[in-house]
Amino acid sequence: MRHFVSTRNLSSKYIFLILNKAEELRLQQEKLPEQIFVANLFFEPSTRTKMSFSVAQRKLGMETLDFQMETSSVTKGETLYDTAKTCEAIGANLLVIRHQEDNWYDELTPNLSLPVINAGAGRGEHPTQCMLDLLTIYQEFGTFTNLNVVIVGDIKHSRVARSNAYALTTLGANVYFAAAPGFKDDTMNFPYISIDEAVEKCDIMMLLRIQHERHTAKQYDSTSYLVQFGLTKERESRMKDHAIILHPAPVNRGVEIDTELVECQRSRIFKQMENGVYTRMAIMIILLKEWGYHNETNPNKCK
Ligand code: CP
Repeated sequence: MRHFVSTRNLSSKYIFLILNKAEELRLQQEKLPEQIFVANLFFEPSTRTKMSFSVAQRKLGMETLDFQMETSSVTKGETLYDTAKTCEAIGANLLVIRHQEDNWYDELTPNLSLPVINAGAGRGEHPTQCMLDLLTIYQEFGTFTNLNVVIVGDIKHSRVARSNAYALTTLGANVYFAAAPGFKDDTMNFPYISIDEAVEKCDIMMLLRIQHERHTAKQYDSTSYLVQFGLTKERESRMKDHAIILHPAPVNRGVEIDTELVECQRSRIFKQMENGVYTRMAIMIILLKEWGYHNETNPNKCK
C-alpha cells in the first residue's frame, strides 16, 4: 500500500494489520527513529481528524509543518497539486490531506514521491475514520463476521458511509443503509431498510451527520427529521441489549440523534475519537515503514 486513500481495495489482512497495531499502540508508547516531517493540508474544516492526527504525530515524535489554508498561497489561487508538490520539494516525508473534491488523490498520488493519507475527500471516502470505526466495533465484538451494521442518515453526501460499507463488507459484516428520501445513494449497491427496521436489526447503528454544507437547498426541518428518520429515545429502547451506537461527529444534536443519547450507555461516540489517535498512529507507522522510513537494527524501530 503506497498511499492510504480508499478502503475499496483494502484486504482483511491489511485492515487487521492496522487494527492490531492500533491496539498495541494504545497500550504502549512508540516513536519513529528518524526525523519525519509531515504536512497536514486541510482544505475543509476539521476538529477531530486534524487534532487526532496532530496528537498521533507528536506521540510518534514527528515534526509537523504549519499550514493554514486561510493564510497560505491557496488564497492566491495555488492548487492542491502545487501545494503538495511544494511540500514535497521543501522536504515533507508524509502528507495528510482533506479536500472537498471526491477523488483528489487520483491525480495527485501518481505524481508524488511521498506517502499520502486521505483525511477526507468530499463525498468520496474517509478511510482513517473508517479504521477507527472498525477498531471500535472490534473492541466491542471481537469479530466482524455476520454483524448487522446499519448506516443511517445522509448516505448520499457521506464519505464515512462509503469507506465503511466497503471495508465492513470485506470483513464479512452485513451492511444495510437507512436514509430519508433525498439522502439515498444509487452508486452503492446495499439494501435499504427503514429506521424502525434498523433499530431492531442492528448490532451496530452507525449514524451520519446531515451534511448541510453539501446540500443545494434545505432538505428537512430538524425536529421533524428526528421524529421521522432519526434515533429517538423510543427507537433506542427497541435496540438489542448489546447493540451500540456510533457517529463520526460532529453531531447535529436533536436532529439525527436525540441529544440525551449522545452520551448514553450504548454510545461509543467519544470512544471512537479516542481510537482515532491510535489508528492514525498505526496507519502512519505502517505506511512510512512501507516507504522505507525505519531501521530494522534500531531498538526504537517500528514493529
Ligand atoms: N469525524 C470527522 O471527520 O470529524 P472532523 O470533521 O471534525 O474531522
